[in-house]
Amino acid sequence: MTEPTTPGGRAPSARTLVIIPTYDERDNLPGVVERLLASAPDVSVLIADDNSPDGTGEVADRLAADDPRGRISVLHRAGKQGLGAAYIAGFRWGLERGYTVLVEMDADGSHPPERLPAMLEAVDGGADLAIGSRYVPGGSVVNWPWQRHVISRGGNIYSRVMLGVGIKDITAGYRAYRADALAELDLDSIESKGYCFQIDMSWRLLDNGRRVVEVPITFTERTVGHSKMSESIFREAAVNVARWGWEKRRAQLRALIGR
Ligand code: GDD
Ligand code: MN
Repeated sequence: MTEPTTPGGRAPSARTLVIIPTYDERDNLPGVVERLLASAPDVSVLIADDNSPDGTGEVADRLAADDPRGRISVLHRAGKQGLGAAYIAGFRWGLERGYTVLVEMDADGSHPPERLPAMLEAVDGGADLAIGSRYVPGGSVVNWPWQRHVISRGGNIYSRVMLGVGIKDITAGYRAYRADALAELDLDSIESKGYCFQIDMSWRLLDNGRRVVEVPITFTERTVGHSKMSESIFREAAVNVARWGWEKRRAQLRALIGR
């Protein structure tokens, strides 16, 4: 297991960066940032905007300029390249600046900022990745249509069976990573664009022997704007997970027969 403190003796979460990817979240972003900084006043925030047509980038700039403590930064990206690419750019930004914990959080209010302290506590207690989980005791989902429940539950069962891992909410998008666990990944090689990015990241950490802990959260579906989930995002996840599972089993078989 990794050491729960940084070399300087401080808890890892003393330097936390919360990355919020945005695409058309003009009306959601201010409220989420406000709740976040009320729950965790010492974190820094990076908004990774893909040149949203609705002007979210300007809203983000205004939030950054208005924060008296200068905690908010904005990464303006050229165009929509998916959630995964926005997070990877955010991870790089944070690692270059020496943050010791990097957090993923949606802009639409689905991920309760009030639960961030519990997730950071899990990291300080020795987790390399703390997942804000809907599917452990105490976790739940509010206001989803039944179709989303089926996709999400099904996606988790499918991933657990295909990959042979025990994480209950492997597709969850609310996460806190220890920076050193991210730094040892080859971020360039991560091609997952949509939500399978989350499965991909979990899979890589487990493969590196990292410790994953699930912290219960209540996920509340957005009331403003709309989800960017699409058929192609769904397909990408289904195909990639099957491929990763197959590659793992082939490697195990090769080891078993000694070639
Ligand atoms: N910069 C950027 N670029 N941001 C994006 C993009 C993009 O191409 N696509 C989506 N986002 C942002 C949204 O603006 C939002 O802040 C966040 O990423 C999540 O997008 P949603 O469209 O709200 O996702 P969701 O609610 O369908 O899915 C959530 O739950 C899934 C599991 O059920 C997310 O948390 C997923 O990560 C998670 O896998
Ligand atoms: Mn959402």
